[in-house]
Amino acid sequence: MLGVFDSGLGGLTALCELRRLRPDLDILYFGDTARVPYGTRSRETIIRYAREALGFLVSRGTDAILVACGTVSSVALPHLAPAFPVPLIGVVEPAALLAYHTSKNRTIGIIATEATVESRAFETALHRLGRVTTRSLACPLFVSLAENGFTSPGDPVAREAVRHYLPPLGKSGIDTLILGCTHFPLLAPQISAALPGVRLIGAGEAAAAAMVATNPQVGHGNLEVFVSDAPARFEKEAERLLGAPLPTKVQKYAL
Ligand code: DGL
Repeated sequence: MLGVFDSGLGGLTALCELRRLRPDLDILYFGDTARVPYGTRSRETIIRYAREALGFLVSRGTDAILVACGTVSSVALPHLAPAFPVPLIGVVEPAALLAYHTSKNRTIGIIATEATVESRAFETALHRLGRVTTRSLACPLFVSLAENGFTSPGDPVAREAVRHYLPPLGKSGIDTLILGCTHFPLLAPQISAALPGVRLIGAGEAAAAAMVATNPQVGHGNLEVFVSDAPARFEKEAERLLGAPLPTKVQKYAL
């Protein structure tokens, strides 16, 4: 069974891609809704939260975990992955690789949480692949917009937030933008409208594709979803974001 982990709803972007590519996989999703957002916390706190949440997924029998959270992938994985009992697949390398091969002018932007941007994890991964110019920008409000349902294409709050954050990227010459936080694809229409012609790379989707390519597991398409708080709210928000109800009842596991 595969684990999928995020601080909240954002990992659903990776979960959807996983289920689209491999509907037969058995998946256990955990969203740490009691403690979202992670992206404004200190490194120590992110590592502690991640250790506890990933520990829960291991205790339920997962054999590998897709860390569908840019913040945990950037800040905690380098620390946790080497000694972890099951493989942890983060979003940084798969997204960097896809962006590198997508970009024609090798000028690549990254938007993510504050903690991710400070870690420079995406830049490091991109520069390891070859000569690139990078521009990164923290957009922490996008997480709250996604968690609170301000995502519909015409939403004036989302439009204002995009207008607040993205102008520096518009002038930067990027032709490809990594959505380095898995919540951000939920605002993709607004981001695209602000940056016409720029290709968007969803970090969670890129990691899901990489995981499918390297994971030989087969299953029966079972899905279980746990959150650390307010399961009914998660169910409601997930249905709004996915346009259909989750095919399973969301359960609570308090860390
Ligand atoms: N979805 C997350 C990420 O990819 C977490 C955002 C947050 O909790 O601040 O970074």
